[in-house]
Amino acid sequence: MKRIYMDNAATSFPKAKGVAEAMTNYIENIGGNVGRGSYYNSYAAGSIVYETRELLCKLFHFDDPLKVVFTMNITQSLNMILKGFLKEGDHVLISSMEHNAVLRPLTSLKQKGIELDIIPCDNEGFLDPNSIKQYIKSNTKLLVITHASNVCGSIQEIKEIGKICKEHDIDFVLDSAQTAGILDIDFYDTYLSALTFTGHKGLLGPQGIGGFLITNEFSNKISPLIEGGTGSLSESYSQPEILPDKFESGTLNIPGIFGLNASLKYILSLGLENIRKKEKDLAKLFLDGLHNIENIKVVGSYDISKRTAVVSIDFQNIDNSEAAFILDNEYGIMTRVGLHCAPLAHKTLGTFPKGTVRFSFGYFTLEEDIFYALESIEKIAKL
Ligand SMILES: Cc1ncc(COP(=O)(O)O)c(C=O)c1O
Repeated sequence: MKRIYMDNAATSFPKAKGVAEAMTNYIENIGGNVGRGSYYNSYAAGSIVYETRELLCKLFHFDDPLKVVFTMNITQSLNMILKGFLKEGDHVLISSMEHNAVLRPLTSLKQKGIELDIIPCDNEGFLDPNSIKQYIKSNTKLLVITHASNVCGSIQEIKEIGKICKEHDIDFVLDSAQTAGILDIDFYDTYLSALTFTGHKGLLGPQGIGGFLITNEFSNKISPLIEGGTGSLSESYSQPEILPDKFESGTLNIPGIFGLNASLKYILSLGLENIRKKEKDLAKLFLDGLHNIENIKVVGSYDISKRTAVVSIDFQNIDNSEAAFILDNEYGIMTRVGLHCAPLAHKTLGTFPKGTVRFSFGYFTLEEDIFYALESIEKIAKL
């Protein structure tokens, strides 16, 4: 049986051309650490790490490669920022579509005296930027939002939201897990304080590499969560204040960065507009087909311009877990069922605690596979 991957919101597959080769090249032929050796191989690795920071600047229209910090993934980036920045008495705002990567650290910070307000989104997962103002208080320090939902693909109006944050002197942090490498994000036009990213989803790179881009002003307000060796200022007993070293203690995931370097080059050579167009076409094809199938409910908006290629459906005749099992077992279609680490989003969409079956397409998804998925869904919906 043919196996069809439709779980790109969890992690993209296949990866961009060149990723595996770049990682293998580092491990087999280069192998030096970065900033910790005065020999050719260390410099060779260091130059790819620096170039990867430059590629991220190019992708996100950012100005300074040294303000690009590498972490393991976006969850680590968000934890570092939230726990390093917020102090007792601070107030933070999030939307009701956030992933547990935002919700859980903030829930634990509430026990340390941080105030949290969750701004409701509508039942298609959209946040009305105008609704933010009524939640702003004198101690509101931060707004964190996911650019697009990992449950139903709803895209938030981040430029409008950023403007409001700027007007009220609130730092603005973006979770780009579902949009980096798919939608064009302009760091400064969006008035961001930090843009967090993960390398293994739309960026088409390997797992275990992520990071954040950050302004100097915001970085100055954050204490590093992890301190230790940076390869720089070794004479000092204290963590360096300079970026990116302040937040990059310990040896980096260098094979991961080599892989990300290759995937970023691939994405930049394709062009984001082409990637977005392909994903929009795939989502439209799928949504048009779903429209005619009985016994299923599509969660979220049908408006392609306002969503990504992440589509959740709720089977009415059969348990969603069973439907996902049949999709995999009988049709070879890989999806993700349940709450997708986003119980808050499912509550907003009216699909909690049942959850949904999520289909998420990527640049490499084939049109014929969308038709096959539609046929398979139709058969299951008739059971
Ligand atoms: C919106 C959103 N935020 C955060 C994450 C966490 O990503 P990672 O596991 O790469 O840290 C995900 C991935 O599941 C996501 O979809």
